[in-house]
Parts: sequence; C-alpha cells; structure tokens
Amino acid sequence: MINWNDLGFEYTDTDYIVRCSYHNGEWGKLVATRRKEINLHVAATVLQYGQEAFEGLKAVRGIDGKVRIFRMLENCRRLARSCEALYMAPVPEQLFEEAILLTLKKNIRYLPPYGSGASLYFRPMVICTTPRLGVGPGWDYEFIVYASPIGTYFKGGFHSTPFILSRRVDRAAPYGTGQYKVGGNYAAAFRATEPAHERGCGSMFLDSRYHRFIDECGAANFFGIKPLKVAEGKRDNEKNVSGYEFVTPRSLSILPSITNDSLMTIATDAGMKVSRRRVPLSELREFTECAACGTASVVSPISKVIDEDRHVTYNFSETPGPVCSMLYNTLLGIMRGELPDKYNWCLIR
Ligand SMILES: Cc1ncc(COP(=O)(O)O)c(C=O)c1O
Repeated sequence: MINWNDLGFEYTDTDYIVRCSYHNGEWGKLVATRRKEINLHVAATVLQYGQEAFEGLKAVRGIDGKVRIFRMLENCRRLARSCEALYMAPVPEQLFEEAILLTLKKNIRYLPPYGSGASLYFRPMVICTTPRLGVGPGWDYEFIVYASPIGTYFKGGFHSTPFILSRRVDRAAPYGTGQYKVGGNYAAAFRATEPAHERGCGSMFLDSRYHRFIDECGAANFFGIKPLKVAEGKRDNEKNVSGYEFVTPRSLSILPSITNDSLMTIATDAGMKVSRRRVPLSELREFTECAACGTASVVSPISKVIDEDRHVTYNFSETPGPVCSMLYNTLLGIMRGELPDKYNWCLIR
C-alpha cells in the first residue's frame, strides 16, 4: 500500500504504460502493457542525437470524488510543437487524449485520494527509434505514456525556497530549443541545477545573449509581483491584490508554461495588471514577492535570489506572500473542484 504522504517527486512504479508506434507515415494502435522496458536499436536517433520530446501533466481526485485532468490539450499542443521542432511527427489530439485516459484507467488505483495533496502525474513522450549513423532525423517513432503518483511538492506546508542565479551555465539560446520541451535542454542544465539542488536551492537562468534579463527557473517559469504606483490610483489597500502587477518574462528561450498561463488568467480576473515582457534582473529589487511556477509545484515562492558572482543577494520574505498564496490556492482549488472551473480547464471523469 502506498503512503500518499511519503511520496516526493520521484518515480513510483504503477501497473501499465501505454504506447503506440509510428511507421511508414502513420500511427498504429494504442496498447497498454505491463512491460516498462522498450527494445531499442543501439543506433536509434533518440540515443545518438537526442531526438526526443516529452510532457508532464497531472490528474487529481476532486472534492466531489471525480478525477480532474488539468489542461490536457495544452500539453498535447506543446508536445506537437516540440516534435515538429525536432523533425518528428506530432501526436494527433485524439490519440494523445485516448492515451492519457487509458493510462489513467489502467492505473486508477494509483490516483491519490482527495485531501492528500498528492496527484497522479503523466509523462507522455515521443522518441525517434530509426537506426541512423549519419547525423539526421529518423522516421519511426514511439509515443509512450507512463504514470506515477507524486506527493505534494511542499513537505511541511507551502513555503519559500532560495534560488541561485546561474551565470556560468546557460540553459538555452534565443532561436535554440528553449521554448520546446526536449530532453537535451534538461541534461544541458544539470551543471547548474544539480549544484544548486545539493545546497537546497532552486536555479534561476538569465537570457543567454545579454545576461541581463530573467529567463526562467530550472524546470519552471518565473513571475514577480510588484505594487502598482499610488499614482496609478489602485493601491488603496495592501490586502487587495488588484493593487499589484504580475510580471513574467517574455523570452524566446523559455518554455511557455501552462501553469503560468493559468496564473496570468487568475491574476487578470482578480483585477491585477499582468505584464509579459523582458524582466531585467535589477527589477528584482522592485518585487514584493516572486516565485517559480510549473506543474510540479504550481507556485514555488522564492525567499531570496543569490547572485554569487556579483556578491549580491535579493531578499524576499521567508514565508509566501499574499499574492503568491492567493494564486496558489486559487489554481489548486480549481484543480480539486473546490472552486468553479469557469475556463473549462479540467477534463472531468
Ligand atoms: C523548462 C520548464 N519551464 C517551465 C515549466 C513549467 O511548465 P508547465 O507549467 O506547463 O508545467 C516546465 C515544466 O514543464 C519546464 O520544464
């Protein structure tokens, strides 16, 4: 029996994976299998040249006992963009949806109960299996989905974490593959993320061209919260979030986060000003709160950003601020069916 409270963000074995092959220009039949290993030719282009794209999304058990899968089609569309960027065939929307629903059905006993804070995470991926020696893309693919229950990201409650600014390692270049979810981006960033992780910190990346603007945080987007000027006439009450601006980077080298997109909608709805633009590192001084955001944590507030090479630390509160807390609770409330899902973000089963 799984102790839902003990789960972290690591793989826990489930019963089935779901897979589908692509040969001669078409996708075959979707199959569910207990076998987690795959047969792969040693010269497959996924192994030689990193021809691989993946996704991450989750399902949670709601207050009404129903299962909610969050914004699945957005993950499907992003996977299609990643596949096309690496010269692979995209997975059609219907096939993607069938694969996720079949993975859910076959592993339903691993869906954590309502109130546990845990969820069932799906990892869809497309790999290219054609053996090729010459540098170039192949033409056979395997679309695979596996599932794993994951625990609440915040052991001991929603809290803030320090982040280390990466000045010696860049994650992605403009016009590179930063806006796609492809394996190579992550291996390339380990040199920054692992040393930070060993010190209990997250990583923050700068734009690789100028090293002046904030790009994103490890495997999450970044946003900052800034009080609107009194002159703009909105900041009459500190507790009223409509007196704040939600600022998030616009950059060619970051992954368009589905969580961030959802938070921007929630912020707009709450009357906040939402700006997506270049965010100079120096603007950190103007933020009253800031956070990383993504599927795993939803919102991960930042307690400080350490710029070691410049001997500067940008300090924020050790505890999550009111705007981060509102955004976090609202998005989780929608996922759990506790708040109305007015944008139809959840597929309910
Ligand atoms: C590099 C990167 N940025 C941002 C995110 C957050 O995206 P999402 O909110 O869609 O999970 C992820 C996670 O998928 C990521 O890997």
